[in-house]
Amino acid sequence: MPVAIRSAALNDLPAILALEQGAPSAAHWTSDQYSKLVSDGIVLIAEESGKLCGFVCAKAVAGEWEVENVVVAAEFHRRGIADGLLRELIQRAEHEAASAILLEVRESNLPAHRLYAKHGFREQGRRRAYYRDPAEDAILYALRFSRRPLSSD
Ligand SMILES: CC(C)(COP(=O)(O)OP(=O)(O)OC[C@H]1O[C@@H](n2cnc3c(N)ncnc32)[C@H](O)[C@@H]1OP(=O)(O)O)[C@@H](O)C(=O)NCCC(=O)NCCS
Repeated sequence: MPVAIRSAALNDLPAILALEQGAPSAAHWTSDQYSKLVSDGIVLIAEESGKLCGFVCAKAVAGEWEVENVVVAAEFHRRGIADGLLRELIQRAEHEAASAILLEVRESNLPAHRLYAKHGFREQGRRRAYYRDPAEDAILYALRFSRRPLSSD
């Protein structure tokens, strides 16, 4: 059965929270924060036979999209699901004329670093001891979209 990607609805929140809470290296947000992202931001989910296998969520601030989380359930890892979710997110950001997609990731999270590098994100800096439990630096990434110059005619 192929994996389908669609925008999340509020009734997807329990499954999204359960998936996130089962992924220790993911960012952790409250139900209210996810609910706000579903209403005002972007939450894309990947499903196989109606089962949630992964999601990505982002918010748009003044033309810059900030990825808040990307999580794929362990039993679905290495099947290209995060690839598909990020591709769709990048397409939507470009379609909405975003100037960039920004994110931060734990320094030790090698799968995530590889994933973002594969999709063209470049390292922009570091926030020291940004994360807790355990304390760790965040590496900042950005994917910037080049704008075509305005035509003079
Ligand atoms: C990071 C994560 C989302 C990747 O999901 P996934 O669906 O398994 O990833 P994909 O199969 O789409 O792989 C896409 C690319 O990511 C990278 N990648 C994924 N898993 C990797 C691993 N274990 N080791 C190294 N690179 C990895 C590779 O570049 C891969 O491309 P390739 O297959 O051509 O080598 C997943 O491991 C996850 O949910 N981790 C826990 C939550 C988390 O840490 N999220 C990041 C928060 S910032």
